[in-house]
Amino acid sequence: MILNDDVLIRVATETDIDVIARISKENCINPWTKEQLQQELYYDFALLVCAVVKKKIVGFISCHITEPEAHLNEIAVEGAFRRKHIATQLLSYCIENSISHKCEYMTLEVRQSNTEAISLYSKFGFKELTIRKSLYTNPNEDAIVMRLDY
Ligand SMILES: CC(C)(COP(=O)(O)OP(=O)(O)OC[C@H]1O[C@@H](n2cnc3c(N)ncnc32)[C@H](O)[C@@H]1OP(=O)(O)O)[C@@H](O)C(=O)NCCC(=O)NCCS
Repeated sequence: MILNDDVLIRVATETDIDVIARISKENCINPWTKEQLQQELYYDFALLVCAVVKKKIVGFISCHITEPEAHLNEIAVEGAFRRKHIATQLLSYCIENSISHKCEYMTLEVRQSNTEAISLYSKFGFKELTIRKSLYTNPNEDAIVMRLDY
């Protein structure tokens, strides 16, 4: 658990899933369903973490820890809470957790047009590895595959 500037970063539990599913639906182009998010709570390799401000969940991150690789699946912060370094704290938490599980690098895919997310990842030092053509649908778009070596 990390407390920074009134933001609590903690592992999600069953009672958080409805809110996380809503945040995913409202902020992500290809949101995860409630059922998908619920399953994450039971996989040993899955890390589902939320950011809480004044007892309200305002963002979350989902990662898979399969050493030597950690993979970022999804990250989102509610519109009113953006640019307050909440995503930075969520991502830092997952990077530190994956390092403690002996991971050596983190990978992710991001839509080519998602400049906000690409800026966030670049700030952490993620580098573009390759392009995966038409990985995304609705709308169809290429993905940039990025990797951060620890
Ligand atoms: C991407 C996202 C998670 C960033 O959340 P956030 O809490 O606002 O990010 P932070 O405040 O931690 O930003 C850290 C850095 O990322 C970059 N960044 C974040 N948002 C940015 C924006 N709108 N424009 C340019 N750079 C941005 C900046 O470098 C920023 O550092 P700075 O504020 O010191 O300049 C948020 O915009 C979001 O939820 N987007 C919709 C969901 C999404 O696209 N998720 C990723 C794919 S699933």
